[in-house]
Amino acid sequence: MLKKLAISATAALALSAGAALAAGAEGHVEDFDFSFEGPFGTYDQNQLQRGLKVYTEVCSACHGLRYVPLRTLSDEGGPNFTEEQVRAYASRYEVYDEEIDDFRAATPTDHFPQSSLETAPDLSLMAKARAGFHGPYGTGLNQLFKGIGGPEYIASLLTGYTGEEKEEAGTLYYENTAFPGGWIAMAPPLSDGLVEYADGHDNSAHHMAEDVAAFLMWAAEPKMMARKHAGLTGVIFLTILTVLLYLTNKRLWAPVKGKKTG
Ligand code: HEC
Repeated sequence: MLKKLAISATAALALSAGAALAAGAEGHVEDFDFSFEGPFGTYDQNQLQRGLKVYTEVCSACHGLRYVPLRTLSDEGGPNFTEEQVRAYASRYEVYDEEIDDFRAATPTDHFPQSSLETAPDLSLMAKARAGFHGPYGTGLNQLFKGIGGPEYIASLLTGYTGEEKEEAGTLYYENTAFPGGWIAMAPPLSDGLVEYADGHDNSAHHMAEDVAAFLMWAAEPKMMARKHAGLTGVIFLTILTVLLYLTNKRLWAPVKGKKTG
């Protein structure tokens, strides 16, 4: 038992040391206000549709989403497209089909394609693979209140360019205040007004960054709303159970306790 305790204490120490180290190298992450934060947070369907548009018209030129099935675009709680719309959207991508040994237009049963640029990472799980918040003092406690900050990291990355560039070994690097290390090989993908929004929403680079980050959060965790719902039901159930058990306990012991004092 003691040994176990000692081991877990060392592990905790190592963990916080690691977190502190990481915090030193991390860039600056802005705290965006997303609709899906907090225990009652939900995805904003319009925002997800705008984010998908930004991904499609800008990011998909380099980045893939190969773990995301196209059919989920019609899921309730997601972008909530009609099946017709999903079919039309899917057909813009080409996938390799082993059966016919050739490329064909994608259908809703296929996944989004993989990255077309080798050096660009797949974005399917990116919103959960990066933590935005490491403080205070590298303890990571902020994550309890603000979430891990994946979408905040992505939005901060997209808006964190300073305009400085440098060339190293034939590759251009762009200074970015959110990227760990400060220099990223991705050219600034967004600029004000780049994508036309059908719903007339503000399409400044800042808003597009926020929308595509929200979309990528949904892509990484499409069932977040169901999870929160189940959690909340659980908490309510346990609260009621606690009250009932407390009252039962009082009642059961009442005769015994009564004797003692009386
Ligand atoms: C012209 C190609 C290109 C486009 C367009 C592009 N990216 Fe990238 N992206 C890259 C490359 C290359 C990297 C790897 C950079 C590195 O590791 O230095 C990258 C890296 C990233 C990363 C990972 C950063 C990290 O922490 O490792 C994210 C997130 C990202 N891009 C998001 C986006 C989003 C969102 C869009 C659309 C708004 C987009 N990118 C558009 C090429 C692109």
